Amino acid sequence: MSMNTEYIEEMIKEFLPKEKGFQKTILEALNYSILAGGKRLRPLIMHETYRLFCDGPVTPDLKAMMVALEMIHSSSLVHDDLPCMDNDRFRRGKLTTWAKYESEATGVLAGDALMIYAFEVASSAYAKTKNPERLCKAIHILANKTGIYGMIGGQTVDVELTGRPMSAEELDFVFRLKTGALLESAMMIGAVLGGATLKEVEICRKIAENVGVAFQIRDDILDVSGDEAVIGKPLHSDEKNNKTTYVSLYGLSKAQEDVEALTDEAIRLLDELPGDPGALKALFHSMISRNK
Ligand code: IPE
Ligand code: IPE
Ligand code: MG
Ligand code: MG
Ligand code: MG
Repeated sequence: MSMNTEYIEEMIKEFLPKEKGFQKTILEALNYSILAGGKRLRPLIMHETYRLFCDGPVTPDLKAMMVALEMIHSSSLVHDDLPCMDNDRFRRGKLTTWAKYESEATGVLAGDALMIYAFEVASSAYAKTKNPERLCKAIHILANKTGIYGMIGGQTVDVELTGRPMSAEELDFVFRLKTGALLESAMMIGAVLGGATLKEVEICRKIAENVGVAFQIRDDILDVSGDEAVIGKPLHSDEKNNKTTYVSLYGLSKAQEDVEALTDEAIRLLDELPGDPGALKALFHSMISRNK
C-alpha cells in the first residue's frame, strides 16, 4: 500500500480525544498541536522500514506506533518552542501552542499531555495485536528514545549549553540525541514489528543515527538560509538564542557536504538489509535537499 502524509493524518485523527469536559482546553490544545501540519516523516520512515521485513498490510500495532511516535515528536516541538526553551511563536506557518493559547502553562501541559497520550495510544494496541512481545519491545524503544537517554537528554544539553560555545563533540552528542533518537526509534520500531533480527535492528539504528544527524544539520542550514514562508518557522532562531550550530561551527558549505556524506553512508547501509530499499532511499534523498 502506498503511504503518504494525508493517510497518516487520517490515522492520527482516529486516535484523537473528543474536545469535551472540564479539561476541554487541554484536549483542544493537544489536537491543535498534532494537527498543525508537519511532514510526518517519522511515521513514514517507520512504515517503510516495516515493509523491508514484512510485506503484509498495516497491522493495528504498527498503526498505533506510527501515531504514537508522531505524537511524541509533536510534543517535543511544543516544548521546544516554549519561552523557557527556544521562545518561538511560529511553527508550520501557525502559532505555536503556547502562543496560540497565550499561556505558557497550556504549552507545558499540552506537551506533557501529548507525550503521555502517545503511550496510551501505543499500549492500546495490546487489545488487537497478534504479537504482544514485539509490541512491548516497540513501546520500550519509544520510551527509551524519548527520555533521558534520547530526545529529552539531548534537549537538556542543548538548553544547558545555550549561550556558550559548544565543542564539536558536544554538538554531535546533542544532534544524536535531540534529533537522532526519535528517528532511530522510527526505524527500530518498524524493524521490530516487522520481525527483524537483533543485528538488523542495530543496522536500522545506525542508519537512522546518520539520517538524524544529517536532518539536524539541514535544519541548522535552513535556520540561516531558508525561506521563512516555505519553512513555516522564524529564521535565525538559533542566532537569537546564541546557540552553537553546525553552521556556526563548520560553515555552510561544509555543513551541506556533511549532510550528503551522512546520507550516503545511510543509503549504503540500507543494502545490508533485506527487502526493497527504494522507498527509503527516495525519502532520505528528499531530506538532503528539503526546504521545509
Ligand atoms: C523539526 O522536525 C525539528 C527537528 C528535529 C529538526 P521536522 O522538520 O520533522 O518537523 P515537522 O514535523 O515536519 O514540522
Ligand atoms: C530540534 O532542534 C528540536 C527537538 C528535538 C524538539 P531545533 O530547536 O533546532 O528545532 P526547530 O528548528 O525549532 O524545529
Ligand atoms: Mg531547540
Ligand atoms: Mg527550536
Ligand atoms: Mg532548528
